[in-house]
Amino acid sequence: MVQPSSVLDRVLVLEMVRVTEAAAIAASRLIGRGDEKAADAAAVQAMRLAFNDLYMDGTVVIGEGERDEAPMLYIGEKVGGAPGKGPKIDIALDPLEGTTITAKAGPNALAVLAAAEEGGLLNAPDVYMDKLAVGPGYPDGIIDLNKSVRENVTAVAEAKGVKPADIIVCVLDRPRHDKIIEELREIGCGIMLIPDGDVAGVIATTNPDTTIDMYMGSGGAPEGVLAAAALRCVGGQFKGRLLFRNEDEKARARKWGITDLDKVYDLKELAKGDCIFAATGVTDGSLLSGVKRLPGGKMTTESVVMRASSGTVRWVKGEHRADVRD
Ligand code: FBP
Repeated sequence: MVQPSSVLDRVLVLEMVRVTEAAAIAASRLIGRGDEKAADAAAVQAMRLAFNDLYMDGTVVIGEGERDEAPMLYIGEKVGGAPGKGPKIDIALDPLEGTTITAKAGPNALAVLAAAEEGGLLNAPDVYMDKLAVGPGYPDGIIDLNKSVRENVTAVAEAKGVKPADIIVCVLDRPRHDKIIEELREIGCGIMLIPDGDVAGVIATTNPDTTIDMYMGSGGAPEGVLAAAALRCVGGQFKGRLLFRNEDEKARARKWGITDLDKVYDLKELAKGDCIFAATGVTDGSLLSGVKRLPGGKMTTESVVMRASSGTVRWVKGEHRADVRD
């Protein structure tokens, strides 16, 4: 049972949707326009502004990069309209998760954020993370990053009461995943290869409609923390281990206080205590519909906001006047 945080005010939970909505609407102008950078910049700027309307003393712990790399929403940046006065909240954000997807008008681009009490979210450096996830309803500890692909698939299949070959696994379509894919093919699993967007890929394991049982493979560590926050709210299991390609990446991790570089993180170590996860669809996907522009200057959005302590999941459909919000 997760204790509700008095810092994460109930009103603030719903307000988080305004923030992801603003980022999604801004990015949606750039859907299919072939310009990843412009789409990301639009989302970042809109999210930054929307935070100002929230009564909180927020700090970005996962953002667009370090201060010298990102003009806005950099790690350590203060956000919110009540600095020094409002509740102290740590924010992990990705104003546009799926920049290439957006540029190519593909599926599953999202505007996402997670919020927790100060110190509640892992300050993950921008390195890769090995990820393994399964949806809710399985015995604790069923997945293990130190076990083989076959062992993990077999354990999940047994608990589900199906053959290993019946398990469907979502994997990012990257050459670095050739070995995982080969092993899954040998077992006979179904593989859903996604071009980008592993936050949606991990969350898809929690929704039986997607038919995805497991998520495997490496992707961004910041995206791992965001996905973990979502699973803290809706259930499911997630294991993550940071992957370092060079000394510089290790130094980044140490800078954020990470001493055990081989540690396998559990959900509660990535997002601990009470937390909030909010997302708005930019393009249509397995989790949410994307932003739609309708005749007559109307726009529609679809968002989800969840809270770990209550387990409440709210689906929010928004109608907006383009002359006001766009
Ligand atoms: P961006 O929105 O920053 O482009 O990230 C998309 C994404 O697919 C993430 O979902 C994923 O974690 C990461 O990129 C994978 O990185 P790479 O493209 O280097 O394999």
